[in-house]
Amino acid sequence: MIIRTILNPAEIRNLPAQDLSDEVCVVFDVLRATSSIVTACAHGARRVFPVLTIEEALALKTEMPDAVLGGERGGDRIEGFDVGNSPAEYCGFERRDIISTTTNGTVALRACEGASHVFAASFLNMKATVEAVRRLACVEDGRGVFERVCVVCAGTHADFSYEDALAAGRFVSCFDGASLDDASLAVRDVFLAHRDDYATTVRNCANGRALVAAGRDADITWCMREDVFDIVVGKVARGVFARVEGT
Ligand code: MLT
Repeated sequence: MIIRTILNPAEIRNLPAQDLSDEVCVVFDVLRATSSIVTACAHGARRVFPVLTIEEALALKTEMPDAVLGGERGGDRIEGFDVGNSPAEYCGFERRDIISTTTNGTVALRACEGASHVFAASFLNMKATVEAVRRLACVEDGRGVFERVCVVCAGTHADFSYEDALAAGRFVSCFDGASLDDASLAVRDVFLAHRDDYATTVRNCANGRALVAAGRDADITWCMREDVFDIVVGKVARGVFARVEGT
C-alpha cells in the first residue's frame, strides 16, 4: 500500500486536476464536518450532499424540498438553514437527505470527486474506515484493487488543522509496512506522540480553542470519541455520500 497525505487547503485545490482514478481518498475534517456527516449516517440519514456554496445548497433544496439544510460559516449555523455543524444536531434525520456546506470539509470531499472511492472519515468511525480501505487494497471490487491511498486533511479556511493531522496519523498508523510519503510520516508521528492524550491535546489547537470559546466544548468531546460508530461513509455517486456496505 502506498499512502500520501494532503495537509492543507492549498494542496486540496490541486486535487481536481489530478488523476485520482487509481486512488482511494480518505477525508478528515474532524472538527466538525466529517464527524457530523458520519454521525448523521450512523443515525439513519439516507444521503448527504456536500456542496461548495450556500447558493448551491439553496438551489439543491428547491429540487429536494424535503432535504435538511445543514452547515456553517464561521462555525455558526447559516441563516435560514435547519441546523449548523454540531454533530449532535445530526441524530434525528433518519431516512432524510441532508444538504451540507461547510468552510472546508465539504470542499475537501468534493475535491476528491475523481477518485474511485472517497470516504468521509473521523475518529468516530476510524476502525470501520481502516478496514474498508484495507479490503480495497486486497480485493478486486470491479474497479480494481486499490494500492494507493490519499489521506486528506481538510484544514480550516486556508490553514492546516492539527486535529485533522491527528486523525490522519491515527489512520496511517494502522497500516504497518505501507510506503509513506513525508507528510504521512509526519502525521503518523504527530499521532504517535499524542496517542495517550490526543483528545485533550486537540483543545489546544486553533479549532479546539475556537469551539471552546464559542461554548461548543461538547462538540470536541463528541468528535474525539474513537470507533463509536461501526459504519463506513463513502461516495455513492457524484456529489453524494451515504453509509456504504461491503466496502
Ligand atoms: C469545516 O468544514 O471547516 C469545519 O467543519 C467548520 C466547522 O464545523 O466549524
